[in-house]
Amino acid sequence: MILGITGQNHDASMALIDGNQIVWAAHSERYSRYKNDQHINAAMTADMLKYGEPTQVVWFEKPWAKNFRRLYSGQRPWFANPKDELKAAGLGHLPVEYVGHHESHAASGYYTCPYNDATILVVDAIGEWDTVSIWEANGLTMKKRWGKRYPDSFGLFYTAMTQWLGLKPNEEEYILMGMAAYGKPILVEELRETFFSKWGPPDFKLRHNLHRGCLWWEPTTPGTSKFDVAASVQKLTEEYLLETVLVMRSNTISDNLVFAGGVALNCVANSVLARSGIFKNIWIMPNPGDAGSAIGAVAAYTQQSLVWSGPYLGTDIKRNVDVKAVVDDLEAGHVVALANGRAEFGPRALGNRSLLCDPRGADAKGRMNTIKKREQFRPFAPAVLAEHADTYFDMPVAESPYMQFVARCRLPDYLPGICHIDNTSRVQTVTEQDNPVFRNILEEWHKRTGCPMLMNTSLNIKGEPLVNTWEDAERFKYLHNIPVY
Ligand SMILES: [Fe+2]
Repeated sequence: MILGITGQNHDASMALIDGNQIVWAAHSERYSRYKNDQHINAAMTADMLKYGEPTQVVWFEKPWAKNFRRLYSGQRPWFANPKDELKAAGLGHLPVEYVGHHESHAASGYYTCPYNDATILVVDAIGEWDTVSIWEANGLTMKKRWGKRYPDSFGLFYTAMTQWLGLKPNEEEYILMGMAAYGKPILVEELRETFFSKWGPPDFKLRHNLHRGCLWWEPTTPGTSKFDVAASVQKLTEEYLLETVLVMRSNTISDNLVFAGGVALNCVANSVLARSGIFKNIWIMPNPGDAGSAIGAVAAYTQQSLVWSGPYLGTDIKRNVDVKAVVDDLEAGHVVALANGRAEFGPRALGNRSLLCDPRGADAKGRMNTIKKREQFRPFAPAVLAEHADTYFDMPVAESPYMQFVARCRLPDYLPGICHIDNTSRVQTVTEQDNPVFRNILEEWHKRTGCPMLMNTSLNIKGEPLVNTWEDAERFKYLHNIPVY
């Protein structure tokens, strides 16, 4: 068995692979209870060992290249050794191989995708040197065709603007995306002029090294709000991705696009790509950021396709959920916690570590926010029986089991809690195959109420990692006084 590891970045993770089976994969933060923990830990190793004994580690990037780049870019500390990380997590005895950062991203997408060929786009802030890369894959072979290098990085532009808006860089980019719907993209040309000396996607050149942020910048367009800045950053990002994908289309015979890297977490941009129809099919692995590269590192090393059976790959909570009791509580208007089965690998709670409630009525969002303590402007997501999705949402893709796309809601007045200001929702479609227990709950809820969806958000409060074990779930119940199943 081979253990893929990511760490010393912003969200450490591990994945245990046996041949073409992903037997276990998890985020470090779920064990240390420290949000976005950058280090792996012994508790995580102990959970992994329940699923098998690795004989080899593959690290998700090349440390010497990264150290050199960190030295070049003036980052402190510039030197990091993955072997120190492995020792601390009780894995120091294992041999280690290293693969490239973007190669891990590309492999996490391609070797889990349902296609036999694809063209692959990787966009992130920075790994070693690459910031954007384009790959062509056929059968088991994946080849890099084009790359853009640090300090020119589109991801760093988005992250610098996240910081400019007063948000936490490398963590709260999703809030920028949410703010965008409240503004007007009136600064697109100003941003392009100010920050880019060359624009010809996929190629571009930045005027400034945005690794150091851009707090010095002041918009010159009169009457702009922070929301207009967010809308403009988002719009420019969508333009860049769309133009890049158009160029990729003209250079490949494949109908399949695989998108990976931290920028592939931008579900609004993902929907623009899907809706464009430039590629017939699009696959985004549900954990396309660095954490997902624990899987990608192993796949890049073995160059073997992996069986993708879903994102439920982490810590197991073995319980028999009383579906009737869950729906009784939901019908009584309660927010209900569901902590059951294997934890989700990826940023979204998809029914195994979820808070659920009735999405109808004006007070749904308020009730959930009392527990979650989130920004009021952010909507919650709906989990819907897959066959009813089209009735309620204008879906950009046939199925969206991992909440990676947004869709316009057809009945925003009926479902205000799950609609953003622009009447879009980040939809999760649920089939029996995706998640049988969650599906049963949704079916029972639908039978009793006629509503085929529930509000579904992650089982945590803002700033804390997702509940991982049953003990965590009981603590949540005690602190927030909500029923836990
Ligand atoms: Fe990355």
